[in-house]
Amino acid sequence: MCGIFGIVTKETRQLGPTLIEAGRRLSYRGYDSVGCATIDSQGIIDLRKDVGKIDDVANRLSFQEMSGKRGMLQLRWATFGEPSQVNSQPHLDSEGGMVGAHNGNVVNNVELRQQFIAEGMTVRSTNDGESCVHAVERYVKQGMDMVTAIRHADGDLQGDYAFVIGKAGEDRLYAFKKGSGLVAGLAEDATIISSDLPSVLPLTRKIIRIEDGEIVVFWANGLELRRVSDGSLVERQPEIIQESMEVAQKGGYAHFMEKEIHEEPKVAEELLHLLENSEDVEPMLERMRSARNLYFVGCGTSYNACMMGSVYLSRLAGRVAIPVLAPQFIAQFAPALGPEDVGVFVSQSGETKDVLNAVAVAKEKGAAIFSLVNVIGSTLTKVSEYHLPMGCGYEISVPATKTFTNQVITFLYLALRMGGHDTTILKELPELMEETLKTALPQVETIEKRLMPWDSLYCLGYGLSYPIALEGALKIKEITYAHCEGMLSTEFKHGPLAAVTDGYPVIFTVNPENIPLILSGINEISCRGGWAIAIGEDDPRLHANAHDVITVPHTTPEIVSLLTVLPLQLLSYRLSLVRGFNPDFPRNLSKTLTVD
Ligand code: M6R
Repeated sequence: MCGIFGIVTKETRQLGPTLIEAGRRLSYRGYDSVGCATIDSQGIIDLRKDVGKIDDVANRLSFQEMSGKRGMLQLRWATFGEPSQVNSQPHLDSEGGMVGAHNGNVVNNVELRQQFIAEGMTVRSTNDGESCVHAVERYVKQGMDMVTAIRHADGDLQGDYAFVIGKAGEDRLYAFKKGSGLVAGLAEDATIISSDLPSVLPLTRKIIRIEDGEIVVFWANGLELRRVSDGSLVERQPEIIQESMEVAQKGGYAHFMEKEIHEEPKVAEELLHLLENSEDVEPMLERMRSARNLYFVGCGTSYNACMMGSVYLSRLAGRVAIPVLAPQFIAQFAPALGPEDVGVFVSQSGETKDVLNAVAVAKEKGAAIFSLVNVIGSTLTKVSEYHLPMGCGYEISVPATKTFTNQVITFLYLALRMGGHDTTILKELPELMEETLKTALPQVETIEKRLMPWDSLYCLGYGLSYPIALEGALKIKEITYAHCEGMLSTEFKHGPLAAVTDGYPVIFTVNPENIPLILSGINEISCRGGWAIAIGEDDPRLHANAHDVITVPHTTPEIVSLLTVLPLQLLSYRLSLVRGFNPDFPRNLSKTLTVD
């Protein structure tokens, strides 16, 4: 997803290296184009931008040499306008006296462009970031100062976004937040604004979180916050961030994804510690027990964890929770929601727009808002009555791995507690995960090359393993670009079986409880020439029926299913590599989806 960064320094200096580093730290969000602008003391704007990755574009356009007292950088993930040089950000106003960039979506971009052209402005791209600049230009041309112009522009720009903008001949930059994340940093010799913390923390740990509807006016020595509604000043004390910044290091691994998979046992252990010591667990459980309806809400991987949570809750606590994708929650359940209902919203980033939209609707209806979130301080943590941290630290690679396992472990913990079971069984989890990772990798390597040519495959599971099959399929399609469909194993014969030809790969995630049922599925495929791969406990029946078997350690059915996701994560990672892709930053995707 797009990211913006802006800086104002005390002295004129070479800003290129700072902007490049900020771009690298924002790059985990996913992007297709990069741009930088600096404004020097003569008011000359140096704008360089193009399609490509940060280091590549920075080299080609010599970002390194860019200097001034004011600078901005933008990483663009295309929504309005194809990825192209002209659509890259930042953008200039008509006369080239202002420059700005945004993150998010301006949904009335098409109408606005027509108005700007009709008003005689020079519109160079089809990108909505340019509309933010012209919307401010429109009012500056009428003689308004920048803050007043931004306040008026807000009335014209529909959507959720944040932008940074600067004008030649001044000593400051301006930013505005409405829906997309924005933080400010107060360093000794500079003031910074950014879409998120990793790009700010190397420069300062003194930060101010910007809230929706706030304009930031920032100069080298500080900033002021003003409400867009009436221009009044907002008082907010800075906070000091203590978090470690070893984030963007791969720690000897080839990719962040590989590193993050291997961190799973360690973060699981930390999570269990957090949960045991959390004061929020008991009051959350209390409300969940007495809720009229209980919903587990998320998107993508986080939704798959919700499904797993729902299966756990029903089995271990006899309580029904409805797992639902966030946008469908609004469409399907909002009309029936009430104050007696509870929603548990699950999100790694805590900024996923689809999830925040669902939260807003649930709030409006008076339902209780609980959440499981990885990024502390994110919007979701702020709007939740209770939130449980995932405790994973930064997850940089776009494919979610360690956050999925910790989401599932949290649900398992809650289900055990709600059902009055002993949770000490979970203590063996980190070791079992460690063992799974060790034994699965060589087994995965025996099939990765044979799987490489297949552009289509299935991943099937039943009961506890059904959400795992969905998650495995999502991982495979996300980073190998093969179409992999996740499905309930029993559904395969109701249509998809027609896809099976000689050697056609079908992966089964196997729970020990359902082996006879899975064996039927395996045989339906192999008798038609298909290739059945099973992932489950070491069981002679699997070896006798499937072509390949990847084993996980023996334990309870609830934990076996969780363990089977590890070989699937490793398989998708290895398959991505043998197919020649970078699993950390899959094409077209973004880590944090802050748009509808
Ligand atoms: O930050 P969130 O957990 O809310 O993100 C939701 C999805 O966009 C995310 O899980 C996505 O599906 C993953 N990249 C899949 O690996």
